[in-house]
Amino acid sequence: MAGGCTFLIVANRLPVDRVTDATGKAAWRRSPGGLVTAIAPVLQRRHGAWLGWAGAADEDLKPFEDDGMHLIPVPLSAEEVQDYYEGFSNATLWPLYHDVVGEPVYERSFWEAYQRVNRRFAEMAAEVAAPGAVVWVQDYQLQLVPAMLRELRPDLRIGFFLHIPFPPMELFYRLPWRRQIVEGLLGADLVGFQRPGAASNFIRLCRRLLNLKYQGNQVFVDDRVVRAQAFPISVDFNELDEVVRRPQTWRRAAQIREELGNPQKILLGVDRLDYTKGIGQRLSAFGELLGSGDIAPGEAVFVQIATPSRERVEQYRLLRDEIELQVGRINGEHARLGAPPVHYLHTSYSRAELAALYCAADVMVVTPLRDGMNLVAKEYVSCRGDQQGALVLSEFAGAADELRQAFLVNPYDIDGLKKIMLEAMRANPAELAKRMRAMRRRVATYDVDRWAADFMDALESHDETSREGR
Ligand code: ADP
Ligand code: F6P
Repeated sequence: MAGGCTFLIVANRLPVDRVTDATGKAAWRRSPGGLVTAIAPVLQRRHGAWLGWAGAADEDLKPFEDDGMHLIPVPLSAEEVQDYYEGFSNATLWPLYHDVVGEPVYERSFWEAYQRVNRRFAEMAAEVAAPGAVVWVQDYQLQLVPAMLRELRPDLRIGFFLHIPFPPMELFYRLPWRRQIVEGLLGADLVGFQRPGAASNFIRLCRRLLNLKYQGNQVFVDDRVVRAQAFPISVDFNELDEVVRRPQTWRRAAQIREELGNPQKILLGVDRLDYTKGIGQRLSAFGELLGSGDIAPGEAVFVQIATPSRERVEQYRLLRDEIELQVGRINGEHARLGAPPVHYLHTSYSRAELAALYCAADVMVVTPLRDGMNLVAKEYVSCRGDQQGALVLSEFAGAADELRQAFLVNPYDIDGLKKIMLEAMRANPAELAKRMRAMRRRVATYDVDRWAADFMDALESHDETSREGR
């Protein structure tokens, strides 16, 4: 059975979550994370549909329109949220794919749920997609969907993009269901990754695990060719650039500085509260700099905005406790009345408020232990049309491939982190402008539109039966 959607995004989450406001009324709020930030503008421009979970368990919602997008909710039971989303996606795959910075849990019931929910997504996509439609499946939660969908609807053109890192073979081999995951991905015509190294990891696996032939970025599967290639994701540079041209953004930035007690330097971190983001490492470095007197009392404040994330997964609960303990300790040791050195906000902000924060920040501290890309780094660069501001960036974020003029750092090296944070705080305006100009050129050229266009061009021009070079 075919439907009428000619362009369909399939992602674990819809771009909006169903929330209940203070008066008890249901409302929609933008979902957290980089995937939504990147894909929502693409869908709005292409007038397609988005199939995904609405963020709460045991809800059966009808398709609806929001913000120029046609949204089709996929229901999940409470047990599926626990086993498929919190379990296999975020307690097994997330830590495994992020270099095992957390210990993955290998639980057979999680895997059962992952297969069941992936099948539901594939079946719903097969129902709504028009004949020959383009379907773009997103991220690690849905790696089985491409093959399941191809089986149901061989007429479709199927793309897949992985927003997080793809691990080296030695780590991936630990996964008891490794073969099924690779076979699932190979249902796509085009498998996109953030970095070239991830695409080569995948191609090597196809050869070693499934004994498939390959040439360059093409893998030969039965009578089909699957391409695996890097497409580094980006942000809507022009939208952010426009927001910061508004005088009210800079007025708000000045007000933020004042609310913080007019420190000489504002350091900023903006992340989902996730153990891959290196929040503890950057706070340790800042705390030690205060302790040693390298940063004088009142000279600098650190603002850490941490969006609540995956709060029912144990590792995330533990992380929240650790970070809050650490913030309490630093403030306990170094605060003066009314002037804490660390401002920690466990909440989400509007895009406008985030833009003002980026404008207020003298040093943006982005220190993930591993990150597929990290859009926060690119958002900061997009917002600094004044050519000022220093970006401290982990070598282990995908963004480090492109933002070479950032203050690059190994976040495991606390002394190195301290040194680079001080260097960034003390850099002169001319040096900052030189670095920022180069980074802005890169993000302005390779923005989210270019990312989506490159992926879609590669998908739409792909000749799936080409046997060239075999
Ligand atoms: P991830 O996809 O792992 O969450 P990214 O850095 O790639 O990491 O993307 C995070 C996205 O979520 C960015 O667009 C960022 O602006 C947004 N975001 C992060 N923290 C907040 C927050 N506290 N309030 C609003 N948006 C946030
Ligand atoms: O980019 C990684 C990612 O897991 C996305 O798939 C997701 O939209 C985002 O982070 C936020 O995660 P979650 O949907 O688990 O809140």
